[in-house]
Amino acid sequence: MAKETYSFTTPIYYVNAAPHLGTAYTTIAADTVARYQRMNGKEVAFVTGMDEHGQKVADTAAAHDMTPQEWCDSMEPAFRDAWKMLDITYTDFVRTTEPRHARTVQHFWNDLYEKGYLYKGAYEGWYCVHEETYYAESDLEKDEEGVFICPDCKRPVQLMASGEENWFFKLSEFQQPLLDFYESHPDFIRPVSRKNEIVSFVSRGLKDLSISRSTFDWGVPLPFDQGHVAYVWADALLAYITGIGYDDPDRPGEFEEFWPMNYHFVGKDIIRFHCVIWPAMLMAAGLPITHTVFGHGFLLTKGEKMSKSKGNALKPADLVGVFGVDAYRYYFMSDVQFGHDGSISMERMVQVYNNELANTWGNLVSRVFNMNKKYFEALVPTVDAEATATFDNPLKEEAAGLYETYDQALEQVDFTQAAAAVQALAARANRYIEETEPFKLAKDPEKADELAFVMYNLLETIRIIALYMAPFAPQTSAEVYRRLGLGDITAVTNIQEASAWGQLPSGNLVETGDPLFPRLDVDAIDLSME
Ligand code: MSP
Repeated sequence: MAKETYSFTTPIYYVNAAPHLGTAYTTIAADTVARYQRMNGKEVAFVTGMDEHGQKVADTAAAHDMTPQEWCDSMEPAFRDAWKMLDITYTDFVRTTEPRHARTVQHFWNDLYEKGYLYKGAYEGWYCVHEETYYAESDLEKDEEGVFICPDCKRPVQLMASGEENWFFKLSEFQQPLLDFYESHPDFIRPVSRKNEIVSFVSRGLKDLSISRSTFDWGVPLPFDQGHVAYVWADALLAYITGIGYDDPDRPGEFEEFWPMNYHFVGKDIIRFHCVIWPAMLMAAGLPITHTVFGHGFLLTKGEKMSKSKGNALKPADLVGVFGVDAYRYYFMSDVQFGHDGSISMERMVQVYNNELANTWGNLVSRVFNMNKKYFEALVPTVDAEATATFDNPLKEEAAGLYETYDQALEQVDFTQAAAAVQALAARANRYIEETEPFKLAKDPEKADELAFVMYNLLETIRIIALYMAPFAPQTSAEVYRRLGLGDITAVTNIQEASAWGQLPSGNLVETGDPLFPRLDVDAIDLSME
Protein backbone atom coordinates (compact mmCIF):
# COMPACT_ATOMS: atom_id res chain seq x y z
CA MET A 1 0.00 0.00 0.00
CA ALA A 2 1.21 3.52 -0.76
CA LYS A 3 2.44 5.43 2.26
CA GLU A 4 0.38 8.28 3.63
CA THR A 5 1.83 11.62 2.64
CA TYR A 6 2.73 14.68 4.66
CA SER A 7 3.63 17.85 2.79
CA PHE A 8 4.59 21.38 3.75
CA THR A 9 6.69 24.37 2.81
CA THR A 10 8.85 27.15 4.14
CA PRO A 11 8.60 30.55 2.46
CA ILE A 12 10.53 30.85 -0.77
CA TYR A 13 13.17 33.23 0.49
CA TYR A 14 14.22 36.45 -1.19
CA VAL A 15 17.80 36.36 -2.35
CA ASN A 16 18.65 39.98 -1.63
CA ALA A 17 20.44 38.71 1.47
CA ALA A 18 21.88 35.45 2.82
CA PRO A 19 19.86 33.34 5.28
CA HIS A 20 19.65 34.74 8.80
CA LEU A 21 18.33 33.45 12.10
CA GLY A 22 14.73 34.32 11.13
CA THR A 23 14.73 32.35 7.90
CA ALA A 24 16.68 29.54 9.54
CA TYR A 25 14.04 29.41 12.27
CA THR A 26 11.19 28.58 9.86
CA THR A 27 13.39 26.14 7.99
CA ILE A 28 14.42 24.29 11.15
CA ALA A 29 10.77 24.08 12.24
CA ALA A 30 9.86 22.56 8.87
CA ASP A 31 12.75 20.13 9.11
CA THR A 32 11.71 19.03 12.59
CA VAL A 33 8.31 18.17 11.13
CA ALA A 34 9.94 16.42 8.15
CA ARG A 35 12.10 14.24 10.34
CA TYR A 36 9.29 13.38 12.72
CA GLN A 37 6.78 12.54 10.01
CA ARG A 38 9.28 10.27 8.28
CA MET A 39 9.78 8.41 11.56
CA ASN A 40 6.00 8.32 11.78
CA GLY A 41 5.77 6.42 8.50
CA LYS A 42 4.81 9.28 6.21
CA GLU A 43 6.08 10.05 2.74
CA VAL A 44 7.24 13.63 3.14
CA ALA A 45 7.33 16.52 0.66
CA PHE A 46 9.21 19.49 2.11
CA VAL A 47 9.55 22.38 -0.30
CA THR A 48 11.79 25.37 0.16
CA GLY A 49 13.62 27.60 -2.29
CA MET A 50 14.70 31.01 -3.46
CA ASP A 51 12.44 33.87 -4.59
CA GLU A 52 14.57 35.44 -7.27
CA HIS A 53 12.35 37.74 -9.31
CA GLY A 54 10.98 41.21 -8.64
CA GLN A 55 12.27 44.68 -8.24
CA LYS A 56 13.97 44.20 -4.90
CA VAL A 57 16.28 41.49 -6.19
CA ALA A 58 16.87 43.39 -9.45
CA ASP A 59 17.84 46.50 -7.43
CA THR A 60 20.16 44.50 -5.17
CA ALA A 61 21.86 42.96 -8.20
CA ALA A 62 22.33 46.38 -9.79
CA ALA A 63 23.85 47.68 -6.57
CA HIS A 64 26.41 44.88 -6.84
CA ASP A 65 27.10 45.53 -10.53
CA MET A 66 25.68 42.20 -11.54
CA THR A 67 22.86 41.07 -13.73
CA PRO A 68 19.92 39.77 -11.69
CA GLN A 69 20.66 36.23 -12.84
CA GLU A 70 24.33 36.52 -11.88
CA TRP A 71 23.33 37.83 -8.48
CA CYS A 72 20.85 35.00 -7.91
CA ASP A 73 23.35 32.38 -9.00
CA SER A 74 25.89 33.84 -6.62
CA MET A 75 23.40 33.55 -3.74
CA GLU A 76 22.45 29.93 -4.29
CA PRO A 77 25.43 28.50 -2.39
CA ALA A 78 24.65 30.73 0.60
CA PHE A 79 21.23 29.11 0.91
CA ARG A 80 22.19 25.57 0.04
CA ASP A 81 25.21 25.65 2.36
CA ALA A 82 23.26 27.13 5.26
CA TRP A 83 20.61 24.43 4.98
CA LYS A 84 23.26 21.76 4.69
CA MET A 85 25.03 23.07 7.75
CA LEU A 86 21.74 22.94 9.68
CA ASP A 87 20.98 19.38 8.48
CA ILE A 88 17.88 20.41 6.58
CA THR A 89 16.30 17.56 4.64
CA TYR A 90 14.12 19.37 2.10
CA THR A 91 12.78 17.29 -0.74
CA ASP A 92 12.84 20.10 -3.30
CA PHE A 93 14.62 23.40 -3.52
CA VAL A 94 12.88 25.58 -6.07
CA ARG A 95 14.61 28.51 -7.68
CA THR A 96 11.94 30.70 -9.22
CA THR A 97 14.22 31.37 -12.20
CA GLU A 98 14.25 27.70 -13.19
CA PRO A 99 12.49 26.83 -16.45
CA ARG A 100 10.32 24.26 -14.68
CA HIS A 101 8.96 27.02 -12.44
CA ALA A 102 8.37 29.43 -15.34
CA ARG A 103 6.28 26.64 -16.83
CA THR A 104 4.19 26.44 -13.64
CA VAL A 105 3.66 30.20 -13.55
CA GLN A 106 2.71 30.39 -17.21
CA HIS A 107 0.44 27.38 -17.05
CA PHE A 108 -1.31 28.61 -13.92
CA TRP A 109 -1.96 32.19 -15.01
CA ASN A 110 -2.89 31.16 -18.51
CA ASP A 111 -5.51 28.92 -16.99
CA LEU A 112 -6.92 31.80 -14.91
CA TYR A 113 -6.83 34.02 -17.98
CA GLU A 114 -8.84 31.48 -19.93
CA LYS A 115 -11.27 31.08 -17.08
CA GLY A 116 -11.95 34.82 -17.18
CA TYR A 117 -10.39 35.79 -13.85
CA LEU A 118 -7.99 38.35 -15.35
CA TYR A 119 -8.50 41.72 -17.00
CA LYS A 120 -6.24 44.52 -18.10
CA GLY A 121 -6.47 47.87 -16.39
CA ALA A 122 -4.57 50.86 -15.18
CA TYR A 123 -3.13 50.87 -11.71
CA GLU A 124 -2.34 53.95 -9.80
CA GLY A 125 -1.15 53.50 -6.31
CA TRP A 126 1.60 52.95 -3.84
CA TYR A 127 4.16 50.20 -3.84
CA CYS A 128 6.90 49.27 -1.39
CA VAL A 129 9.80 47.57 -3.16
CA HIS A 130 11.28 46.22 0.05
CA GLU A 131 8.04 44.49 0.99
CA GLU A 132 7.09 43.89 -2.68
CA THR A 133 3.59 44.96 -1.65
CA TYR A 134 0.88 47.36 -2.85
CA TYR A 135 -0.61 49.67 -0.22
CA ALA A 136 -3.75 51.77 -0.11
CA GLU A 137 -2.95 55.38 0.69
CA SER A 138 -5.02 55.12 3.85
CA ASP A 139 -2.67 52.39 5.13
CA LEU A 140 0.52 54.41 4.66
CA GLU A 141 2.42 56.32 7.32
CA LYS A 142 4.39 59.56 6.94
CA ASP A 143 7.94 60.30 7.98
CA GLU A 144 9.08 63.53 9.67
CA GLU A 145 9.16 65.32 6.34
CA GLY A 146 5.67 64.22 5.46
CA VAL A 147 6.81 61.65 2.88
CA PHE A 148 4.66 58.54 2.63
CA ILE A 149 6.39 55.51 4.07
CA CYS A 150 5.61 51.82 4.20
CA PRO A 151 3.64 50.85 7.32
CA ASP A 152 5.68 47.64 7.60
CA CYS A 153 9.31 48.48 6.86
CA LYS A 154 9.04 52.29 7.19
CA ARG A 155 10.88 52.88 3.92
CA PRO A 156 9.58 55.44 1.37
CA VAL A 157 6.98 53.96 -0.99
CA GLN A 158 6.84 54.48 -4.77
CA LEU A 159 3.92 55.91 -6.65
CA MET A 160 3.02 53.64 -9.53
CA ALA A 161 1.70 55.87 -12.30
CA SER A 162 -1.55 55.29 -14.11
CA GLY A 163 0.32 55.07 -17.42
CA GLU A 164 1.32 51.53 -16.49
CA GLU A 165 -1.22 49.00 -17.67
CA ASN A 166 -1.40 45.87 -15.57
CA TRP A 167 -3.18 42.60 -15.54
CA PHE A 168 -5.55 42.30 -12.61
CA PHE A 169 -6.76 39.20 -10.82
CA LYS A 170 -10.41 39.48 -9.73
CA LEU A 171 -9.57 39.05 -6.06
CA SER A 172 -12.60 41.08 -5.01
CA GLU A 173 -14.88 38.29 -6.23
CA PHE A 174 -13.42 36.02 -3.57
CA GLN A 175 -14.33 38.02 -0.50
CA GLN A 176 -17.36 35.94 0.42
CA PRO A 177 -15.91 32.58 -0.71
CA LEU A 178 -12.86 33.29 1.46
CA LEU A 179 -14.95 34.26 4.48
CA ASP A 180 -17.01 31.10 4.01
CA PHE A 181 -13.85 29.08 3.68
CA TYR A 182 -12.35 30.45 6.93
CA GLU A 183 -15.62 29.66 8.66
CA SER A 184 -15.80 26.08 7.42
CA HIS A 185 -12.05 25.42 7.87
CA PRO A 186 -11.27 26.61 11.37
CA ASP A 187 -7.72 25.25 11.19
CA PHE A 188 -6.80 27.06 8.00
CA ILE A 189 -5.15 29.98 9.78
CA ARG A 190 -3.21 29.37 12.95
CA PRO A 191 -2.60 30.54 15.57
CA VAL A 192 -6.12 31.84 16.11
CA SER A 193 -5.00 35.45 16.71
CA ARG A 194 -3.81 35.60 13.11
CA LYS A 195 -7.10 34.17 11.93
CA ASN A 196 -8.97 37.03 13.57
CA GLU A 197 -6.67 39.51 11.87
CA ILE A 198 -7.29 37.97 8.44
CA VAL A 199 -11.05 37.66 8.87
CA SER A 200 -11.31 41.29 9.83
CA PHE A 201 -9.08 42.34 6.93
CA VAL A 202 -11.14 40.41 4.36
CA SER A 203 -14.41 41.58 5.91
CA ARG A 204 -13.44 45.16 5.12
CA GLY A 205 -13.52 44.31 1.41
CA LEU A 206 -10.95 43.18 -1.14
CA LYS A 207 -9.60 45.04 -4.13
CA ASP A 208 -8.57 43.33 -7.33
CA LEU A 209 -4.89 42.54 -7.39
CA SER A 210 -2.40 43.67 -9.97
CA ILE A 211 -0.49 40.53 -10.93
CA SER A 212 1.77 41.83 -13.67
CA ARG A 213 4.33 44.54 -14.29
CA SER A 214 5.42 45.98 -17.62
CA THR A 215 7.94 48.62 -16.52
CA PHE A 216 10.67 46.09 -15.84
CA ASP A 217 11.37 42.63 -17.13
CA TRP A 218 12.91 40.65 -14.25
CA GLY A 219 10.16 38.06 -13.97
CA VAL A 220 8.23 35.35 -15.78
CA PRO A 221 6.55 36.68 -18.95
CA LEU A 222 2.80 36.14 -19.04
CA PRO A 223 2.05 33.84 -21.98
CA PHE A 224 -0.99 35.84 -23.12
CA ASP A 225 0.83 39.19 -23.02
CA GLN A 226 4.58 38.88 -23.41
CA GLY A 227 5.26 42.52 -22.52
CA HIS A 228 4.24 41.74 -18.94
CA VAL A 229 6.03 39.78 -16.26
CA ALA A 230 4.26 38.22 -13.29
CA TYR A 231 4.23 40.21 -10.04
CA VAL A 232 6.74 38.58 -7.71
CA TRP A 233 4.10 37.14 -5.35
CA ALA A 234 2.02 35.88 -8.29
CA ASP A 235 5.17 33.98 -9.18
CA ALA A 236 6.71 32.86 -5.87
CA LEU A 237 3.61 31.33 -4.26
CA LEU A 238 3.43 28.93 -7.17
CA ALA A 239 6.86 27.54 -6.25
CA TYR A 240 4.97 25.51 -3.65
CA ILE A 241 3.40 23.46 -6.41
CA THR A 242 6.45 23.46 -8.67
CA GLY A 243 8.22 21.77 -5.75
CA ILE A 244 5.87 18.79 -5.88
CA GLY A 245 5.94 18.35 -9.62
CA TYR A 246 2.94 20.40 -10.81
CA ASP A 247 2.67 20.07 -14.58
CA ASP A 248 6.03 18.32 -14.66
CA PRO A 249 6.23 15.54 -17.23
CA ASP A 250 9.21 14.06 -15.37
CA ARG A 251 7.28 13.63 -12.12
CA PRO A 252 3.97 12.01 -13.04
CA GLY A 253 1.41 11.59 -10.26
CA GLU A 254 3.44 13.46 -7.67
CA PHE A 255 1.32 16.60 -7.54
CA GLU A 256 -1.86 14.56 -7.02
CA GLU A 257 -0.11 12.63 -4.27
CA PHE A 258 1.08 15.63 -2.24
CA TRP A 259 -1.52 18.31 -2.92
CA PRO A 260 -3.25 19.77 -0.93
CA MET A 261 -0.50 20.23 1.62
CA ASN A 262 -0.64 19.95 5.38
CA TYR A 263 1.15 23.21 6.15
CA HIS A 264 2.65 26.36 4.86
CA PHE A 265 5.03 27.63 7.55
CA VAL A 266 5.47 31.39 7.28
CA GLY A 267 6.31 34.40 9.41
CA LYS A 268 3.38 36.49 10.60
CA ASP A 269 4.35 39.36 8.26
CA ILE A 270 3.41 37.40 5.15
CA ILE A 271 0.15 35.79 6.18
CA ARG A 272 -2.04 38.03 3.99
CA PHE A 273 -0.37 36.66 0.90
CA HIS A 274 -0.83 33.12 2.15
CA CYS A 275 -4.29 33.40 3.67
CA VAL A 276 -6.00 35.75 1.21
CA ILE A 277 -4.30 35.88 -2.19
CA TRP A 278 -3.10 32.29 -2.32
CA PRO A 279 -6.38 30.54 -1.44
CA ALA A 280 -8.22 32.85 -3.85
CA MET A 281 -5.78 31.89 -6.60
CA LEU A 282 -6.34 28.22 -5.81
CA MET A 283 -10.12 28.62 -5.75
CA ALA A 284 -10.00 30.31 -9.13
CA ALA A 285 -7.90 27.46 -10.50
CA GLY A 286 -10.28 24.90 -9.02
CA LEU A 287 -7.55 23.42 -6.84
CA PRO A 288 -7.96 22.37 -3.22
CA ILE A 289 -6.44 24.56 -0.51
CA THR A 290 -3.65 23.81 1.93
CA HIS A 291 -4.91 22.57 5.27
CA THR A 292 -3.13 25.11 7.50
CA VAL A 293 -1.13 28.28 7.10
CA PHE A 294 0.85 28.62 10.29
CA GLY A 295 2.10 32.15 10.94
CA HIS A 296 4.90 32.03 13.47
CA GLY A 297 6.13 35.03 15.42
CA PHE A 298 9.31 37.05 15.17
CA LEU A 299 12.58 36.41 16.88
CA LEU A 300 13.42 39.40 18.99
CA THR A 301 16.74 40.54 20.34
CA LYS A 302 16.66 43.13 23.07
CA GLY A 303 12.94 43.50 22.41
CA GLU A 304 13.33 44.31 18.72
CA LYS A 305 12.68 42.23 15.62
CA MET A 306 15.95 40.81 14.39
CA SER A 307 16.76 42.12 10.96
CA LYS A 308 19.80 42.67 8.87
CA SER A 309 19.00 46.30 8.22
CA LYS A 310 18.95 46.99 11.96
CA GLY A 311 22.36 45.41 12.23
CA ASN A 312 21.22 43.01 14.94
CA ALA A 313 21.25 39.88 12.84
CA LEU A 314 23.63 37.12 13.79
CA LYS A 315 24.34 34.52 11.14
CA PRO A 316 23.36 30.90 11.71
CA ALA A 317 27.01 29.90 11.30
CA ASP A 318 27.99 32.10 14.26
CA LEU A 319 25.70 30.16 16.56
CA VAL A 320 26.56 26.79 15.11
CA GLY A 321 30.21 27.63 15.82
CA VAL A 322 29.46 28.10 19.51
CA PHE A 323 26.72 25.54 20.19
CA GLY A 324 26.86 22.98 17.40
CA VAL A 325 24.00 22.21 15.05
CA ASP A 326 21.89 20.07 17.34
CA ALA A 327 21.89 22.52 20.24
CA TYR A 328 21.12 25.37 17.83
CA ARG A 329 18.12 23.51 16.46
CA TYR A 330 16.99 22.37 19.88
CA TYR A 331 17.15 25.84 21.40
CA PHE A 332 14.95 27.52 18.80
CA MET A 333 12.41 24.74 18.75
CA SER A 334 12.15 24.17 22.49
CA ASP A 335 12.52 27.68 23.84
CA VAL A 336 10.61 29.88 21.38
CA GLN A 337 6.92 29.00 21.40
CA PHE A 338 5.96 28.50 17.76
CA GLY A 339 3.32 31.08 16.90
CA HIS A 340 4.48 33.73 19.40
CA ASP A 341 7.21 36.32 19.22
CA GLY A 342 10.17 35.09 21.20
CA SER A 343 13.14 36.84 22.72
CA ILE A 344 16.39 35.12 22.08
CA SER A 345 19.69 35.74 23.78
CA MET A 346 23.08 34.12 24.09
CA GLU A 347 22.65 33.90 27.85
CA ARG A 348 19.47 31.93 27.43
CA MET A 349 21.01 29.70 24.76
CA VAL A 350 23.87 28.85 27.08
CA GLN A 351 21.38 28.16 29.86
CA VAL A 352 19.24 25.82 27.76
CA TYR A 353 22.35 24.12 26.44
CA ASN A 354 23.84 23.53 29.87
CA ASN A 355 20.61 22.60 31.67
CA GLU A 356 18.71 20.55 29.16
CA LEU A 357 21.35 19.18 26.84
CA ALA A 358 24.57 18.94 28.86
CA ASN A 359 23.23 18.27 32.38
CA THR A 360 20.05 16.36 31.64
CA TRP A 361 20.31 14.49 28.35
CA GLY A 362 24.08 14.35 27.78
CA ASN A 363 24.86 13.60 31.39
CA LEU A 364 22.31 10.80 31.52
CA VAL A 365 23.97 9.12 28.56
CA SER A 366 27.49 9.50 29.98
CA ARG A 367 26.59 8.26 33.45
CA VAL A 368 24.62 5.28 32.29
CA PHE A 369 27.04 4.20 29.59
CA ASN A 370 29.97 4.50 31.98
CA MET A 371 28.25 2.58 34.75
CA ASN A 372 27.26 -0.10 32.32
CA LYS A 373 30.84 -0.42 31.18
CA LYS A 374 31.93 -0.85 34.77
CA TYR A 375 29.25 -3.30 35.86
CA PHE A 376 28.49 -5.24 32.70
CA GLU A 377 31.57 -4.88 30.52
CA ALA A 378 29.59 -2.47 28.37
CA LEU A 379 27.07 -5.13 27.35
CA VAL A 380 23.34 -4.52 27.66
CA PRO A 381 22.44 -6.73 30.65
CA THR A 382 19.96 -9.58 30.53
CA VAL A 383 17.08 -9.14 32.94
CA ASP A 384 15.71 -12.06 34.89
CA ALA A 385 12.01 -11.44 34.38
CA GLU A 386 10.91 -13.70 37.22
CA ALA A 387 13.34 -12.36 39.79
CA THR A 388 12.39 -8.76 38.99
CA ALA A 389 8.66 -9.27 38.38
CA THR A 390 7.61 -7.39 41.51
CA PHE A 391 9.90 -4.38 41.01
CA ASP A 392 8.43 -1.01 40.14
CA ASN A 393 9.37 0.30 36.74
CA PRO A 394 8.64 4.04 36.75
CA LEU A 395 10.62 4.66 33.56
CA LYS A 396 8.55 2.17 31.64
CA GLU A 397 5.41 3.89 32.89
CA GLU A 398 6.66 7.36 32.02
CA ALA A 399 7.80 6.24 28.56
CA ALA A 400 4.46 4.58 27.81
CA GLY A 401 2.57 7.84 27.48
CA LEU A 402 5.22 9.63 25.52
CA TYR A 403 4.17 8.78 21.98
CA GLU A 404 0.69 10.14 22.45
CA THR A 405 1.77 13.41 24.03
CA TYR A 406 4.59 13.95 21.60
CA ASP A 407 2.60 13.03 18.51
CA GLN A 408 -0.29 15.28 19.44
CA ALA A 409 2.09 18.14 20.11
CA LEU A 410 3.95 17.76 16.84
CA GLU A 411 0.79 17.33 14.79
CA GLN A 412 -0.13 20.77 16.18
CA VAL A 413 3.46 21.97 15.62
CA ASP A 414 3.81 22.68 19.31
CA PHE A 415 7.54 21.99 19.32
CA THR A 416 8.01 23.34 22.82
CA GLN A 417 5.55 20.89 24.29
CA ALA A 418 7.00 17.93 22.39
CA ALA A 419 10.53 18.80 23.51
CA ALA A 420 9.37 19.28 27.11
CA ALA A 421 7.82 15.81 27.14
CA VAL A 422 11.12 14.23 26.08
CA GLN A 423 13.05 16.36 28.53
CA ALA A 424 10.74 15.18 31.32
CA LEU A 425 11.61 11.56 30.57
CA ALA A 426 15.34 12.34 30.62
CA ALA A 427 14.94 14.17 33.94
CA ARG A 428 12.94 11.24 35.30
CA ALA A 429 15.73 8.87 34.30
CA ASN A 430 18.32 10.98 36.12
CA ARG A 431 16.12 10.90 39.21
CA TYR A 432 15.77 7.15 38.86
CA ILE A 433 19.54 6.86 39.18
CA GLU A 434 19.40 8.77 42.46
CA GLU A 435 16.52 6.61 43.70
CA THR A 436 17.94 3.22 42.75
CA GLU A 437 21.61 3.98 43.46
CA PRO A 438 23.16 1.46 41.05
CA PHE A 439 26.61 2.17 42.56
CA LYS A 440 25.38 0.69 45.84
CA LEU A 441 23.61 -2.22 44.16
CA ALA A 442 26.87 -3.06 42.39
CA LYS A 443 28.57 -3.63 45.73
CA ASP A 444 26.06 -6.22 46.86
CA PRO A 445 26.19 -9.59 45.03
CA GLU A 446 22.66 -10.34 46.28
CA LYS A 447 21.40 -7.37 44.29
CA ALA A 448 22.76 -8.54 40.93
CA ASP A 449 19.29 -9.04 39.44
CA GLU A 450 18.18 -5.64 40.58
CA LEU A 451 21.28 -3.99 39.16
CA ALA A 452 20.71 -5.63 35.78
CA PHE A 453 17.09 -4.52 35.89
CA VAL A 454 17.96 -0.91 36.74
CA MET A 455 20.70 -0.65 34.14
CA TYR A 456 18.54 -2.19 31.45
CA ASN A 457 15.76 0.28 32.24
CA LEU A 458 18.14 3.19 31.97
CA LEU A 459 19.65 2.02 28.70
CA GLU A 460 16.23 1.33 27.25
CA THR A 461 15.05 4.79 28.29
CA ILE A 462 18.06 6.31 26.58
CA ARG A 463 17.17 4.42 23.41
CA ILE A 464 13.63 5.80 23.54
CA ILE A 465 14.77 9.36 24.25
CA ALA A 466 17.18 9.16 21.30
CA LEU A 467 14.21 8.34 19.05
CA TYR A 468 12.19 11.30 20.27
CA MET A 469 15.12 13.69 20.26
CA ALA A 470 15.97 12.78 16.66
CA PRO A 471 13.75 15.39 14.95
CA PHE A 472 15.22 18.10 17.20
CA ALA A 473 18.83 17.00 17.46
CA PRO A 474 19.45 14.57 14.62
CA GLN A 475 23.21 14.11 14.90
CA THR A 476 23.38 13.30 18.58
CA SER A 477 20.41 10.95 18.38
CA ALA A 478 22.03 9.12 15.50
CA GLU A 479 25.20 8.88 17.57
CA VAL A 480 23.43 7.49 20.65
CA TYR A 481 21.62 4.95 18.51
CA ARG A 482 24.90 3.90 16.96
CA ARG A 483 26.62 3.65 20.35
CA LEU A 484 23.81 1.39 21.53
CA GLY A 485 24.62 -0.90 18.60
CA LEU A 486 21.30 -0.17 16.91
CA GLY A 487 22.44 1.04 13.51
CA ASP A 488 20.96 3.88 11.53
CA ILE A 489 18.22 5.81 13.35
CA THR A 490 16.91 7.32 10.12
CA ALA A 491 15.81 3.83 9.10
CA VAL A 492 13.06 4.03 11.75
CA THR A 493 9.71 4.50 10.02
CA ASN A 494 7.33 3.63 12.83
CA ILE A 495 8.34 5.53 15.92
CA GLN A 496 5.31 4.39 17.85
CA GLU A 497 6.27 0.73 17.50
CA ALA A 498 9.99 1.43 17.76
CA SER A 499 9.52 3.26 21.04
CA ALA A 500 7.50 0.51 22.70
CA TRP A 501 9.27 -0.70 25.82
CA GLY A 502 11.77 -3.55 25.88
CA GLN A 503 13.30 -3.66 22.43
CA LEU A 504 16.93 -2.95 23.29
CA PRO A 505 18.62 -6.31 22.71
CA SER A 506 20.48 -7.75 25.68
CA GLY A 507 24.09 -8.41 24.80
CA ASN A 508 24.52 -5.34 22.55
CA LEU A 509 27.91 -3.76 23.09
CA VAL A 510 27.52 -0.13 24.20
CA GLU A 511 30.21 2.31 23.23
CA THR A 512 30.87 4.99 25.85
CA GLY A 513 32.36 7.74 23.68
CA ASP A 514 32.85 11.46 24.28
CA PRO A 515 30.22 13.63 26.01
CA LEU A 516 27.39 14.50 23.60
CA PHE A 517 27.22 18.09 24.86
CA PRO A 518 30.38 19.24 26.65
CA ARG A 519 29.46 21.90 29.18
CA LEU A 520 29.91 25.46 27.97
CA ASP A 521 31.78 27.98 30.02
CA VAL A 522 29.62 31.07 29.94
CA ASP A 523 32.61 33.33 30.67
CA ALA A 524 34.38 32.13 27.55
CA ILE A 525 31.53 33.07 25.19
CA ASP A 526 30.83 36.38 23.52
CA LEU A 527 27.27 37.06 24.64
CA SER A 528 26.71 40.24 22.67
CA MET A 529 24.84 38.77 19.65
CA GLU A 530 26.57 41.20 17.32
N1 MSP B 1 9.93 35.89 -0.69
C1 MSP B 1 8.96 36.07 0.32
C2 MSP B 1 8.21 34.80 0.60
C3 MSP B 1 7.54 34.21 -0.60
S1 MSP B 1 6.71 32.75 -0.17
C4 MSP B 1 5.94 32.31 -1.55
C5 MSP B 1 9.64 36.52 1.60
N2 MSP B 1 10.91 36.22 1.70
S2 MSP B 1 11.85 36.61 2.91
O1 MSP B 1 13.17 36.16 2.61
O2 MSP B 1 11.70 37.99 3.24
O3 MSP B 1 11.30 35.68 4.02
C6 MSP B 1 11.31 36.04 5.16
C7 MSP B 1 10.71 35.00 6.09
O4 MSP B 1 11.51 35.07 7.23
C8 MSP B 1 9.30 35.41 6.46
O5 MSP B 1 8.53 34.28 6.81
C9 MSP B 1 9.56 36.26 7.69
O6 MSP B 1 8.50 36.28 8.56
C10 MSP B 1 10.75 35.52 8.29
N3 MSP B 1 11.51 36.41 9.14
C11 MSP B 1 12.25 37.51 8.81
N4 MSP B 1 12.73 38.06 9.96
C12 MSP B 1 12.30 37.34 11.02
C13 MSP B 1 12.53 37.35 12.40
N5 MSP B 1 13.25 38.26 13.01
N6 MSP B 1 12.01 36.33 13.13
C14 MSP B 1 11.34 35.30 12.55
N7 MSP B 1 11.10 35.26 11.27
C15 MSP B 1 11.41 36.36 10.50
O7 MSP B 1 8.98 37.09 2.45
